[in-house]
Amino acid sequence: MSIANLPGTDSLPDPAQLGVAGGLPEANWLEALANQFFQAVPGSTTSTSGLAGLHGASTSSPASAIPAGLPAGTTSIAGAGLPVSPAALPSTALNPLPDLASTSATPPIVGYETINPGWPDQGGLTLPSVFPFSATTGIPATPFDGLLNDADLLGLLEASVASVPALSLASAHAPAHVPTHLPVSSTGLVSSTPSFYFLEHAHSSNESVQIPGRSAVVPGIASSQAPFDVNLIRRDFPILQERVNGRQLIWLDNAATTQKPQSVIDRVSYFYEHENSNIHRAAHELAARATDAYEGAREKVRGFLNARSVNEIVFVRGTTEAINLVAKSWGGQNLKEGDEIIVSHLEHHANIVPWQQIAAEKGAKIRVIPVDDTGQILLDAYEKLFNSRTKLVSFTQVSNALGTVTPAAEIIGIAHKHGVKVLLDGAQSVSHMRVDLQALNPDFFVFSGHKVFGPTGIGVLYGREELLNSMPPWQGGGNMIKDVSFEHTEYHAAPGRFEAGTGNIADAVGLGAAIDYVTRLGMDNIALYEHGLLEYATHHLRQIPGLRLIGTAADKASVLSFVLEGHKTEEVGSALNQDGIAVRSGHHCAQPILRRFGLEATVRPSLAFYNTCAEIDALVASIRRIQRK
Ligand code: ALA
Repeated sequence: MSIANLPGTDSLPDPAQLGVAGGLPEANWLEALANQFFQAVPGSTTSTSGLAGLHGASTSSPASAIPAGLPAGTTSIAGAGLPVSPAALPSTALNPLPDLASTSATPPIVGYETINPGWPDQGGLTLPSVFPFSATTGIPATPFDGLLNDADLLGLLEASVASVPALSLASAHAPAHVPTHLPVSSTGLVSSTPSFYFLEHAHSSNESVQIPGRSAVVPGIASSQAPFDVNLIRRDFPILQERVNGRQLIWLDNAATTQKPQSVIDRVSYFYEHENSNIHRAAHELAARATDAYEGAREKVRGFLNARSVNEIVFVRGTTEAINLVAKSWGGQNLKEGDEIIVSHLEHHANIVPWQQIAAEKGAKIRVIPVDDTGQILLDAYEKLFNSRTKLVSFTQVSNALGTVTPAAEIIGIAHKHGVKVLLDGAQSVSHMRVDLQALNPDFFVFSGHKVFGPTGIGVLYGREELLNSMPPWQGGGNMIKDVSFEHTEYHAAPGRFEAGTGNIADAVGLGAAIDYVTRLGMDNIALYEHGLLEYATHHLRQIPGLRLIGTAADKASVLSFVLEGHKTEEVGSALNQDGIAVRSGHHCAQPILRRFGLEATVRPSLAFYNTCAEIDALVASIRRIQRK
């Protein structure tokens, strides 16, 4: 996203004034940004600094005496600001547990009406017998000059390692043998435990480990008023502690699918343990519970998208099914020979093939909005595509292959000016930015639950209510009818008319829990944090000789496609995997846009809010190793 578009950023300090060459948002700039932004968050109560820990220590620690004000250009784990008394911190900030404990720490869900809303309050915790951190004096952290090499990276990782006890020491319940103040080196950085300890000692037996996550601590977030602390957030995602090829997993394949917080996993389990029933069909207790849970999830989706009515929210399997539904139902009803459908050059195959299929059936034609060399839509060329035969524009809000954020409001506005309907594909946008359908005003909007930290196999079609009710069902069966005789069937209104058969009830409920989760973090907070990560990653990838970034639009979200001279994309993907780093390499189901850039494949790291600068550093170091081979 463009930082200029984010709320609360109008009076941010100029990066240059903070000694940041080329406007790169290094940790100190991000810190200032976060401070300023989150001071404006209602309910912000703590004085800990914003993204101070992006590269290092968690500032949620009340006890770690981490100095502020490192020289510009250092990799700051500082700026940690003021020590905060434990009493001033929300309970979530005080949780001393390493990651794995959060699994058992998730509070039991008690009672049907009091379902855990998704934010762990860490009640009833049991401390692990082995506290995995040693705060011995180690190698001094290495100042960072902005151009990464392996020595820098080593220093960064060491510095970040030191941050881990700081977070854990935040707890008033910290085990007695853990010192409450960390040693500080002469550089002003906290001295560290042995480097890469998290790669070497990650959880075996009872031991668990928290990735030294370069915690980003932002106070006063959303309704929980918990700090936006990436270390704490990472604890909510048990899979992030997996080891791959002996390394702690670094999940950078978020555009393919996102990982699930414990609250989503627990919510789906709870459904099967306490609520499982078919919906809408019986007078018994479990049918009522299941129906309430499912319809409750629909309401959560409505709120998340700011749709007018739950009747506009249809549960489907995912984005692909949603687009196919519109193509078959609306397209089948409204398209005829000679009609034209506009898509953009950026589209995923799921937003090309269904239109080709219906176009072939009807004798209609596909027209394509071109993009410039950065991968951004050419609005002038777009407007020239309209004529009296244009019936639909279908385009993505964020490109899965390049990360381009398209000018959705303008594209929709132009289509509506020509009296043409619009489908907006939100598969890659909903996890990165706030989506307000009443403001954007598309006729259809689609997304997949698994891209927004929810389960696979559940997704959403939004359609304007009167439009949905004017469309024929695309599948027939139970659940979608009011009355059936052998002569005639009367259908329900939307959404029921498009939900034939028994749907994916449990995963719809899980999607509701995922929405609760991101809503509590705050979509604007997520966008801001990810913007910093993206800028950081872009800068450092650009320094690698022979690496060509594909997709360099000014407005981008969390995707970094690239090719590396002399190395096949699958070779790079599998070498990264050797280092425990998951990225997608290939055509990303978007062959037309890659071919626009003369390519058949790219390597595609893609980010989410639980990723850290440390992980980017590890990615960069790994690519440099590949590149030297
Ligand atoms: N659409 C998903 C991706 O971009 C699968 O990887």
